[in-house]
Amino acid sequence: MESKFVSTRAMRFRWINAQCFEFVMSNGKTLLTDPYFDDPERFQPGRGMSLMNFNVGDIEAADYVFVNHTHGDHIKNLQDVCDRFHPIVICHSAVAMELARTHDIPLTSIYPVDFNGRYYFDGFMLDTYHGTHHASPFGYSASKMGSDDELNAMGSIFNVNFILHTPEGMRVAFIGGNDDGMTERFREIRPNLLIRNKMGSSRDFERVAERFAEIFARSNTQLLIPMHCETWANERPEFLNQVIADMNAIMEEKHLIGRVALLERTRWYGLDLTITEL
Ligand SMILES: [Fe+2]
Repeated sequence: MESKFVSTRAMRFRWINAQCFEFVMSNGKTLLTDPYFDDPERFQPGRGMSLMNFNVGDIEAADYVFVNHTHGDHIKNLQDVCDRFHPIVICHSAVAMELARTHDIPLTSIYPVDFNGRYYFDGFMLDTYHGTHHASPFGYSASKMGSDDELNAMGSIFNVNFILHTPEGMRVAFIGGNDDGMTERFREIRPNLLIRNKMGSSRDFERVAERFAEIFARSNTQLLIPMHCETWANERPEFLNQVIADMNAIMEEKHLIGRVALLERTRWYGLDLTITEL
């Protein structure tokens, strides 16, 4: 029987909702991505993108916040997080001023980054990559949604993806929309863990497992965690579980070691290097 012999932990982390993850590094510093977890006006409990009974008081810590793109379902709770934790907010330089204008964040706490950069933080390092959003038919005027008009429009124009490097040598890729060459880059970068949005919107049911598995198979990664699939988790859990099972079956058929792990939202997990007794 297999048993764990010795194990070291590079980080603990959890999926909260949408593209919101909390990563706690080995030195205790915390990175929160795309803060969106509490939106009672917009969503019914258990439907759409909602998360039940979770608000900023349930976030453990946020020394850093990373913004992948500036749609509401990625920044809606940014102000709540800034008010409670006063983090460094890492965002693309093109949205930095608009975030400053629409949010109450000390200007010196806004940390603009650009594409193809390497950035050093306390407890981790980030490499940044250009990304694009899944296709949407809306132009500028149709994207107006209130006080965050400009941010909402810019959210459709670009994403910032990243590879997080831990001091232990773990590489975690965090990818939002389209592929934009990331699977090509992975041939060299070889992330251990890929955290990825699905390949289309939540209303796109075309060959979901096949398209997602195809990207995974070409990625040279050991583990895939799907994110931004909360609408399916809320409304079609059987469909989502079948997608995960089908993806793992495809990987097995191709004799690839990569496997998909669907996380339970808000539950903590460890990312470990483990030696197992066989
Ligand atoms: Fe978006």
